[in-house]
Amino acid sequence: MKYQQIDNQLFIKNRKKFTAEMKPKSIAVFNSNDIYPISADSTLPFQQHRDIFYLSGIDQEESILVLFPDALDQKHKEVLFVRETNEHIAVWEGEKLTKEKATAISGVATIYWLSDFDKIFFGLMTAADTIYFNTNEHYRQAVETETREDRFIKDCKLKFPAHQWAKSNPILQQIRGVKEPEEIEQIQKACNITEKGFRRILEFVKPGVWEYEIEAEYIHEFIKNRSKGFAYTPIIASGNNANVLHYILNNQQCKDGDLLLMDVAAEYANYSSDMTRTIPVNGKFTPRQKAVYEAVLRVKKEATKLLVPGTLWEAYNVEVGKIMTSELLGLGLLDKAAIQNQSKEWPAYKKYFMHGTSHHLGLDTHDYGALKTPMKEHMVFTVEPGIYIPEEKIGIRLEDNVVIQKSGEPINLMKNIPIEVEEIEDLMSNKNKK
Ligand code: GLY
Ligand code: MN
Ligand code: MN
Repeated sequence: MKYQQIDNQLFIKNRKKFTAEMKPKSIAVFNSNDIYPISADSTLPFQQHRDIFYLSGIDQEESILVLFPDALDQKHKEVLFVRETNEHIAVWEGEKLTKEKATAISGVATIYWLSDFDKIFFGLMTAADTIYFNTNEHYRQAVETETREDRFIKDCKLKFPAHQWAKSNPILQQIRGVKEPEEIEQIQKACNITEKGFRRILEFVKPGVWEYEIEAEYIHEFIKNRSKGFAYTPIIASGNNANVLHYILNNQQCKDGDLLLMDVAAEYANYSSDMTRTIPVNGKFTPRQKAVYEAVLRVKKEATKLLVPGTLWEAYNVEVGKIMTSELLGLGLLDKAAIQNQSKEWPAYKKYFMHGTSHHLGLDTHDYGALKTPMKEHMVFTVEPGIYIPEEKIGIRLEDNVVIQKSGEPINLMKNIPIEVEEIEDLMSNKNKK
């Protein structure tokens, strides 16, 4: 791993929070992700499943975490299975976890080799009544691939049909939504790396550069700073590409007079940051671009103030809609008649701002987190309003990452990433002086 090891106290705390919610005589199992194939013998780089990482810090394929708080044998209350290494693996793949290293990373005392899983797990299951399965119930999930977890669940249902089944996901959604200080520290590191990337490209962008050249500048800076790379597929969208919300081709040339929207951020230690900045390709906003930009920035600032303990998700989105509506009236994009005729389901502002304002952020970019209950201290959210006007070749989104505080405004983890018009213009003009 390129990142510095996280203190295992985090994973010990996380397991405590999970097991506190388990039923009596129950067992919970968490699997690593597969290494996904491309074709022939090619594979995608390994990405650990975020739940086993959250509960153990183990960042290696073919690992299994078993939690059994009521186990009769103390050493079986938490057990990790890892792939046994050998000389062949050492030569071809390099260092893998030893049992000692797995304990040091996770704080789990009992480590077995994966080859012993079936026998040991059978013994544990005979003393359990319920098994918690880790199904994917994320509100945006649309996964067609059968995961390692899916295969485990199928197999387990066949082998242990008399056990009761329970769901891990609702527990994880609750506990992963509220971040520990060690987690906020990792997200802050990811934001700091993202800042380095953004400052680098402010020096680089000028009319004639290609979107993919900008992408290359970011990845250089990210990896140089111990990130594995992009937290999500980057959007580097000049001109009207910014009006395609999920534009990821990044293959066009940036033109004088156009804006450049970049939704690009680094991961660090599997934690995401999630930034969007919009800058003028030639370093200077036109008066109209600046007016729309300032409107988006005001919405972002006002929306951020609403992220306090007790706020309800739906009410938050309604409020931000009202703030956006007033800005769109100011820009002459909406008129009073449009507002009068709007429906509750599709308010008029959605013509220019058609996506959500915020999402939870953490180990997943669109992270787990409660959305039906009031917001809590130490939840981490993005704030990302935008205004999209294809007919004017303007698409502007601004996105920061904030942590809800017990009282007062949230802390902005991206407060050092330039966002004010003057600052962006100054930094972009500096490069011409060099
Ligand atoms: N970059 C993904 C998002 O902003 O939600
Ligand atoms: Mn984003
Ligand atoms: Mn986002």
